[in-house]
Order: sequence, then structure tokens, then C-alpha cells
Amino acid sequence: MEAIVSIRNSNIYIDKHLVLSDVTFDINKGEFIYLIGKTGTGKSSLLKTLYGELPLTDGEGEVGEFDLKKLKRKQIPFLRRKLGIVFQDFQLLTDRSVAENLIFVMKATGWKDKNKMKARIEEVLEKVGLSTKSFKMAYELSGGEQQRVAIARALINDPVLILADEPTGNLDPETSDNILTAAFRHQQIRKGHLDGDA
Ligand SMILES: Nc1ncnc2c1ncn2[C@@H]1O[C@H](COP(=O)(O)OP(=O)(O)O)[C@@H](O)[C@H]1O
Ligand SMILES: [Mg+2]
Repeated sequence: MEAIVSIRNSNIYIDKHLVLSDVTFDINKGEFIYLIGKTGTGKSSLLKTLYGELPLTDGEGEVGEFDLKKLKRKQIPFLRRKLGIVFQDFQLLTDRSVAENLIFVMKATGWKDKNKMKARIEEVLEKVGLSTKSFKMAYELSGGEQQRVAIARALINDPVLILADEPTGNLDPETSDNILTAAFRHQQIRKGHLDGDA
């Protein structure tokens, strides 16, 4: 098994406040893991540590080829390009269209070919069931639709790891199920268990 994430005996702090102590776990390629816990128990803080928002000071931590303990500020964008992140509050550009929200990230991560961008946008919107909404402004969407845009955005660069903070919290059970299934297939395709016919 190939570990994408490896955390060893880490303590996680917000400022000086200890949020989680002695955290140890691995995430292997293709694994699908839920982290469950009450509000305020440190789930978001743990994810923030994985994407470089909180520094790792104690123990050991690796995400892909990045050593979290040695992570320099200027490496953080490169770490994040390897990840698909779905933030709890979506962080969409609400005064831009769905497509523009995706284009914004694509430009920032090196996409240039307009036709390829268009094709990829259609592909990810299809995956989250938003094919017909690409011209809608983000503020015109329901909470659940905004969440799906955030998920589509996370899928854009076919990440090795998707980190999602309560990604289905605003969705009805059926949509939630569809999205989790899509994300699971994404992982299986990456793992090589399926042919990519999703
Ligand atoms: N910016 C912050 N400053 C100080 N304390 C915070 C901050 N963000 C979260 N906390 C505290 O850290 C703890 C863990 O929060 P969080 O990781 O957001 O938990 P969860 O995502 O499981 O609800 C909570 O006690 C919370 O009050
Ligand atoms: Mg949280």
C-alpha cells in the first residue's frame, strides 16, 4: 500500500491552544475515509494541517512528497495543487458564474488551452450534476448547488487526494449519495480498479 498521507505522533495547535494530541494515521492511495466527531473536536484543524493552513510542529507528517514539518510558505501553493480541497464554507466567488469560478482555479494552476478548459469544465460539472448551470452566477445557486460547484472545483486537477470538510452537510440524502459515489469512483479510477468509464 502506498501512503499518500502519513501522520505520526502529532499534536495540533491553534495558536498555543492544543486541539488534538498524539495523532497517528495513514491514508493510502484510493482509500476513502470519513472523520467523524462532534463540533469543536478538531476535524477542520486536522484538515488544515494537511493542506498547510496550520503548521505542524510536533511529530512527523507527510502529504505526497511534502514534509509538513519542513513546509515553507512558498511551497504551500504547490502542495495545494496536488490536493482537491472542499472548504466548509465553499469559498466561491459569488459574483462570478459557475464556469468562471472553475476557470479562476484553472488559470491559477497553469491551464492555458481554452478548448481543453471548456471540455474539463463540462466533465466536472457533469460529475456533480450541474451541467446546465455553468452560466449561472454563484449567488443565484442554492446552498446545495454551491456546494457542488465547490466539489467540481476540487476535482478539476484530478487530485491525488480530496480533502472535504463537511462536503455534504447542505445536501439532500440522494444528492449527497451521488456525490460520494462520484468521489469514490474518482478514487477507484486513480487506484486503477476501474477503466475510467465513469
Ligand atoms: N481561529 C481559531 N482560534 C481559536 N480557536 C479556534 C479557532 N478555530 C477553531 N478553534 C477551536 O479549536 C477547536 C477545534 O475546532 P475545529 O477544528 O474547527 O473543530 P471541528 O471542525 O471538529 O468542529 C475548537 O475548540 C474551536 O473552538
Ligand atoms: Mg469543522
